[in-house]
Amino acid sequence: MEIRKVGVLGCGLMGSGIAEVAARAGYETVVREVSQEIIDKGIQKIHGSLGKAVEKGKMSAEDRDQTVARLSGAVDFGALADCDLVIEAIVENLDEKRKTFTALDEVVKKEALFASNTSSLTVTQMAMFTRRPDQFVGLHFFNPVPVMKLVEVVRTLLTSDATFDAAFAFARAVGKEPIACRDNSGFVVNRLLVPYLLDAIRALEEGVGSAEDIDKGMQLGCGHPMGPLTLLDFVGLDTTYYIANIMFEEYREKRFAPPPLLKQMVQAGRLGKKSGRGFYDYTKK
Ligand code: CAA
Ligand code: NAD
Repeated sequence: MEIRKVGVLGCGLMGSGIAEVAARAGYETVVREVSQEIIDKGIQKIHGSLGKAVEKGKMSAEDRDQTVARLSGAVDFGALADCDLVIEAIVENLDEKRKTFTALDEVVKKEALFASNTSSLTVTQMAMFTRRPDQFVGLHFFNPVPVMKLVEVVRTLLTSDATFDAAFAFARAVGKEPIACRDNSGFVVNRLLVPYLLDAIRALEEGVGSAEDIDKGMQLGCGHPMGPLTLLDFVGLDTTYYIANIMFEEYREKRFAPPPLLKQMVQAGRLGKKSGRGFYDYTKK
């Protein structure tokens, strides 16, 4: 199936990045949010990112204008009706995803493919919310989407070969390097990354080192671009908390259990960079 028009659900950290790379790659792209205010802010964020690419000489002003023309925002699901591929990147909550996919299945043409950018839910359970489980796949992008090269393409027991191949080709067409994964919670990367991030919080709780020293240790000792606590702030502590709960529920292994400090920070509204404060303070320059 040829993919010409792409729908993206959610225009937060990940949805805005996915919409940006799709529009830049030449796809007509429509991104859906829950309110006009959020969609306006999200589209502005994408325009800002494209503006930076022009300033850095990575993109011509003409390409930017064409990309902007290919991108639109919507609140009504109807705007996605003629999409060939819809990629969901809303909050990591099964009930929200269920409501969204159920509504989407009603309005989007029946040949269209559905994908989820979930970090930790199984793709199978979302596919079963629709009447097209064979046309459902995981497309897991990494943050920040315009920079990170990887996409995990996740096949369930029901995903057809044609769907998997089209999703794999789409990941390549937006300039990414895809890998094939089975539908196990966390796929490849989060199965390894999430216990490491949660352990960094446990190390902080136990007073092994300060936040700065834990981060410096992993940056300078292991060559990581960011220390784990900075990375947690970057991913979002709310999102990490949802992911940890889902993976703990799935595997019942202690390494996936959310540490009390993570829970308290989410309860206190310290969600990381997006809220201005997490393990670090982003309100001061
Ligand atoms: N959008 C677009 N471009 C961005 C960007 C963004 N949000 N953030 C950084 N960049 C670009 C910069 O413009 C810069 O480009 P140039 O080299 O062309 O100037 C380049 O990326 C490097 O940025 P900086 O020099 O500002 O900073 P840096 O060298 O520290 O790199 C980083 C920033 C790429 C984010 C790097 O720190 C990094 O790779 N961090 C780790 C990110 C990571 O691990 N992501 C995975 C998170 S887990 C996940 O996504 C899965 C999940 O389900 C939770
Ligand atoms: P975010 O909080 O930045 O954005 C989520 C967006 O979804 C918000 O703008 C919210 O308004 C919107 N939303 C909520 N309900 C919605 C609905 N019913 N329809 C449309 N939009 C809705 O979250 P995020 O970090 O972009 O995460 C989105 C998804 O991507 C999650 O499944 C997450 O696990 C996954 N993910 C996150 C990262 C990361 O580093 N943050 C990386 C890879 C995958």
